[in-house]
Amino acid sequence: MNEDTQTNRPERPSDTSEESTEENGSAESPETPSEGSARAKVLENQKRVSLAHSRLRRLFDDGTMEEIGAEVTHRVNDYGLEDKKIPGDGVVTAMGEVDGRPVYAFAQDRTVLGGSLGEAHAKKITRLQDLAINAGAPFVAINDSGGARIQEGVDALGGYGEIFRRNVQASGVIPQISAILGPCAGGAVYSPALTDFVGMVDGSSFMFLTGPRVVKTVTFEDVSVEELGGAVTHGQKTGVSHFVWEDDNEAIDHIRQLLTYLPSNNHESPPVVDNGDDPERMNPEFHEVVPTDTSEPYDVRGVIDLLADEDSFMEVHKEWAQNIVVGLGRIGGQSVGFVANQPDEQAGVLDIDASRKGARFIRTCNGFNIPIISLVDVPGFLPGKHQEHGGAIDHGAKLLYAYCEATVPKLSVILRKAYGGAYIVMSSKHVGGDINLAWPSAEIAVMGAKGAVEILNRREIAAADDPDAKKQELIDEYEGKFLNPNHAARRGYLDAVIEPHETRRKIHRYLQSVMNKREFMPPKRNGNIPT
Ligand code: HXC
Repeated sequence: MNEDTQTNRPERPSDTSEESTEENGSAESPETPSEGSARAKVLENQKRVSLAHSRLRRLFDDGTMEEIGAEVTHRVNDYGLEDKKIPGDGVVTAMGEVDGRPVYAFAQDRTVLGGSLGEAHAKKITRLQDLAINAGAPFVAINDSGGARIQEGVDALGGYGEIFRRNVQASGVIPQISAILGPCAGGAVYSPALTDFVGMVDGSSFMFLTGPRVVKTVTFEDVSVEELGGAVTHGQKTGVSHFVWEDDNEAIDHIRQLLTYLPSNNHESPPVVDNGDDPERMNPEFHEVVPTDTSEPYDVRGVIDLLADEDSFMEVHKEWAQNIVVGLGRIGGQSVGFVANQPDEQAGVLDIDASRKGARFIRTCNGFNIPIISLVDVPGFLPGKHQEHGGAIDHGAKLLYAYCEATVPKLSVILRKAYGGAYIVMSSKHVGGDINLAWPSAEIAVMGAKGAVEILNRREIAAADDPDAKKQELIDEYEGKFLNPNHAARRGYLDAVIEPHETRRKIHRYLQSVMNKREFMPPKRNGNIPT
């Protein structure tokens, strides 16, 4: 993510990493905060809020930002707060446009009362959330805060509750994106966690429920802020963060780009952004990217790059659960979500984290009318005590649930192997795949040939004059029967067997034909997705 090619603004405003003084003119002022005068204090405060302002100015299209609630202050006259009534109360709330569409956003300012959230600060945010939900417009949260304002007690805690409730109301209605551009501690972390996408800046942001000092007191563990809740931790280990950014500017530009893949709300379709890449383009390169030997690894991103419109693939959760690749892209200008097993990482096996990652992404796509394209090359679910005891049954079921529940168009291509439960789960016809395709080299079976004959023909092999020759003969027989797409195609479980080089064209054509499908689930209060 180093350019804003997908957005309509040619030039970026000045770096938001530095506090800007352009609005308040304090750089030229004869007074400075060190003089301690009231005027200097005001200037200092104005200068402080400008970081939050400049972050928002970068987010919105030039000249479209309108701030609301700039004069709001808290009403606490205790703990010294009576002398710290700063207009805006440590958060800038605003509306504007991103690529010409309305967006609502707030930015907290850590330099005002630590960016801490009290009653007034919270009310500014909840007012903005209500406006965004009612307007059907995306909501962007720029978090940079010390958490609940300690001096405001239950009013601060209640404020968080009000925000969380609205995060949930808005979930699946409008896109919600959280940028963590500083601290996000305590219960404050639950608001980002309730949103669709979270991103963190490497080295300058962190998220944790309890900081290192409390951890040390309770569990005697020594852990640094970075290790406990830095961007790398949440981008690689926990999956809490969908994106890891290098700095503020990359963060905000990336959010602008992310919004181009999403509709304004769940009643709309995502914008079509046609970059002129011919959807009928043929790709002989597929044969080079994917080795025919099913045990040979390859990077499935190479397949996605060929399939998607040029440079349109935006990976999500890039560094977490790398045995599955998910991300947004376009085909013929239309937003699609890719879910692909990754043979380059643990042979693309499905495990707990891969299932969680896939399920989450599928639900995000389904919520926002984005068709799902699954690229299948999977040896099965990862066996073992660690996985079973970690709840692999529930997590695998979660991925299954997400596919079964999704009513957006679901297309899949089996590239090489699709074994066992993983075949069923990965968007098969049986779980509601609309269009199921396979390359001629696809292998669909309960398991690989060697494992199968060892179970089925153990006695026969042992009794043979030449057990190795017998075993090979049985393996060949099994492969001929099952390890190709023909049987599944004859049954109608596959809609077509296609040549690799025509995959983009076929996907585009089938996608057009199912784009406007309607599918209804039985009415219910809520389904009960496995934990
Ligand atoms: C009130 C706060 C504050 C807070 C910081 N400040 N956090 N004021 N409430 N939560 C104030 C500080 O007193 C200080 O004021 C100024 O902000 C800057 O703070 P520093 O500590 O000097 O800044 P820094 O060294 O950059 O450290 C930032 C920090 C640290 C790491 C975020 O302030 C910190 O650990 N804060 C507390 C974080 C935390 O535990 N929050 C959880 C709260 S519980 P002066 O006047 O000296 O400039 C919670 C529960 C919510 O959030 C539950 C919802 C369900």
